[in-house]
Amino acid sequence: MKFRRQTKNCKIFESPKIKFSEEYKMNIKNNIPNKKGFFGEYGGQFVPEGLKIAMNNLTKDYLKIKKDKTFKKEFVELMNNYVGRPSALYFARNLSKKYGCKIYFKREDLNHTGAHKINNTIGQALLAKRIGIKKIIAETGAGQHGVATATAAALMGLECEIFMGEIDAKKQMMNIYRMQLLGAKVNVVKKGGRTLKDAVDAALEYYMHHPEVFYLLGSVVGPHPYPMMVRDFQSIIGKEAKKQIKKQEGRLPDYLVACVGGGSNAIGLFYDFIPNKQVKLIGVEPAGKGLKTGKHAATMTLGKPGVLHGFYSYLLQDKDGNPLPVYSIASGLDYPGVGPEQSFLKDIKRAEFKHVTDAEALAAFHETSRIEGIIPALETSHALAYSFKLAKKLRKDQIIIVNFSGRGDKDVEFVASLH
Ligand SMILES: Cc1ncc(COP(=O)(O)O)c(C=O)c1O
Repeated sequence: MKFRRQTKNCKIFESPKIKFSEEYKMNIKNNIPNKKGFFGEYGGQFVPEGLKIAMNNLTKDYLKIKKDKTFKKEFVELMNNYVGRPSALYFARNLSKKYGCKIYFKREDLNHTGAHKINNTIGQALLAKRIGIKKIIAETGAGQHGVATATAAALMGLECEIFMGEIDAKKQMMNIYRMQLLGAKVNVVKKGGRTLKDAVDAALEYYMHHPEVFYLLGSVVGPHPYPMMVRDFQSIIGKEAKKQIKKQEGRLPDYLVACVGGGSNAIGLFYDFIPNKQVKLIGVEPAGKGLKTGKHAATMTLGKPGVLHGFYSYLLQDKDGNPLPVYSIASGLDYPGVGPEQSFLKDIKRAEFKHVTDAEALAAFHETSRIEGIIPALETSHALAYSFKLAKKLRKDQIIIVNFSGRGDKDVEFVASLH
């Protein structure tokens, strides 16, 4: 990767044009990331020296503990009996009838705490405990990751502190109360745009000054090993979905669709299907109030490669490389970056990225609630909105699996306030 220039917040690089063979592309599941944490040219560790040492130690610990049979056993036991896995793969009969193809929901909303986030927090909290760390910290956008982290901390007897942007905190008051009930301290971040990016900034700053804590990152972002580690814990979604669809339909699906904030629920569903070329992988990002308004978080659509929060990936940035302010009706999606593995999958054309507006997501929120009797999270509603558009173009026998990343209980009060 060729270094171009340094700005106040970012290092800007020229994107090299790496060519990957077809065989490599289909085997990327086994090839990435490399030892330095690169997915093709994306990812890595763009952090100060002190933090690099901490990240390298974490990588070593993770790679060692991951192979430990008792760790695996405990993780699986908690996934089954605490989280409630495997989560159902539900054939959405009414929406399928309406839109004219087979639409399935991978029901991560049925997990304990109501979203996919708990898969990762249980994994990382178990790891923290194994390493012998007593306190965990985390950022949160919609509050789902904060609640899932506070839950894992309560379960494992760890101290917990959460950082949340002020704008998100106002939208998600109940989630703040939930985190506090679970014993966590919540810090409301009043700097910058006061959303998810600023919560990550604050958590990273705290971590730099308190290296004795464990930073439990909530998505496939940040320096290596987070994008790999979070993906590994979330890949349980795709592993289950693959078995379930084979059992229910006798074949693999035609499309997988998931919303993309940092990208953890999307890569969690996609990962096991990467070698299955016939399955199309589609990430859906928030176009907010419209791509031309500047009020969106459509990183893949309008971003360019750059460095944020210690990793290199597509990034919404100004001409000096500073991250742009982002917006989405769904607090969990308003992040200016995206996971490095997704950036790689986009460049090699193994995954596609689409966008839907707030209005389209809200319509899907209402429609799914009314027609299927399931209230989706606003984040999930983005994936649903795109799936409905896609379904209209497909044949009756074609199959879409939508990652139903979370339940909408957290959003009901906010949506009601819009009327
Ligand atoms: C329900 C739900 N879905 C999706 C997301 C987006 O995160 P990611 O892209 O990491 O899955 C969030 C983030 O808070 C969320 O709460």
